Amino acid sequence: MKLFLAPIQGMTIACYRNAFARHFGNIDAYYAPFIGLSDTKNISNLLLKDLLPEHSDSSINVVPQLLGNDGALFKKFALVISDLGYREINWNIGCPFPMVTGRKRGSGILPYPDMIKKFLDTACSDSSYTVSVKMRLGLKDPEEGFRVMEVLNEYPLCKVIIHARTGNQMYTGQVDLEAFKALAGSCKHEVTYNGDIFTYADYLRINSCFPAVNNYMLGRGALTDPFLPSVIKGHDIPSANKISIVRNFHDDIFNFYQSRLSGSKHLSDKMKEFWDYLHVHICTDKKLLKKIKKCHDSSQYIELVNQLFDSAEWIE
Ligand SMILES: Cc1cc2nc3c(=O)[nH]c(=O)nc-3n(C[C@H](O)[C@H](O)[C@H](O)COP(=O)(O)O)c2cc1C
Repeated sequence: MKLFLAPIQGMTIACYRNAFARHFGNIDAYYAPFIGLSDTKNISNLLLKDLLPEHSDSSINVVPQLLGNDGALFKKFALVISDLGYREINWNIGCPFPMVTGRKRGSGILPYPDMIKKFLDTACSDSSYTVSVKMRLGLKDPEEGFRVMEVLNEYPLCKVIIHARTGNQMYTGQVDLEAFKALAGSCKHEVTYNGDIFTYADYLRINSCFPAVNNYMLGRGALTDPFLPSVIKGHDIPSANKISIVRNFHDDIFNFYQSRLSGSKHLSDKMKEFWDYLHVHICTDKKLLKKIKKCHDSSQYIELVNQLFDSAEWIE
């Protein structure tokens, strides 16, 4: 069984992936947040900075992701990225945001299988890299996914990751396990399940529905409980050790942003995103968490976070 970390824009950038691997591990591949395809003459290092070898720990397996609907641009970017040492390049046809879908990108391309075919004709025409796809069940209706899968089955994709929601559902509502099962069953490629695995019980329940699926991608569940991959893989550690591990993880990320971001407000605001996920399993004085949420100064932030870690307990 393989576990993948889902891309979460703004969170799972190189420093996060490196620190995650160092402190928690048990992830077979880290999918990087998408880079939007753009018709630039030169693909600059700034555009690819999250993937540059000097930022990304070479001992972990990272899969870059591209978002767009132009196969020639995908190929152009994929060739430059494969020169950096990456083999698998993921195509995002799942992003649900109206600014993206309105331009027939992300899940907005799912109602147009002919566009997907045209895209893949070019995107899959070079053997320097292999293409994987991260999709949703459809944009509006799971019926759309079946027509897309007929097209995907014609190409030599290395993997198809399915988030078991439609684009219109965004990130809310139930995952549709029945529709996932039918879509996964119609796929000739290796399938990865994605969506709403927040606990070990969620994993067991979903895993029991799909005995033929061996790959799982965790997003928000791994960000709220970074020990979840180790629990799923059977390598859990005692609860009493968890806070100090999370503290070291936090400090690595804080140190990274401190060296990159200018301005105390900027730094404390960035770190607050981290707590949006991490507070869930931390038992502490709720007032401390509220103060962290309200704080706009990095020295005050560090003081509060130290108080929190000194007194907190990890709740399973
Ligand atoms: C804030 C946020 C940012 C995301 N960014 C990306 C992204 O860059 N690329 C992508 O394929 N999916 C992105 N996703 C979707 C996740 O990778 C994942 O498919 C989704 O959250 C469902 O999995 P989960 O329930 O395990 O979180 C994002 C999700 C969230 C909540």
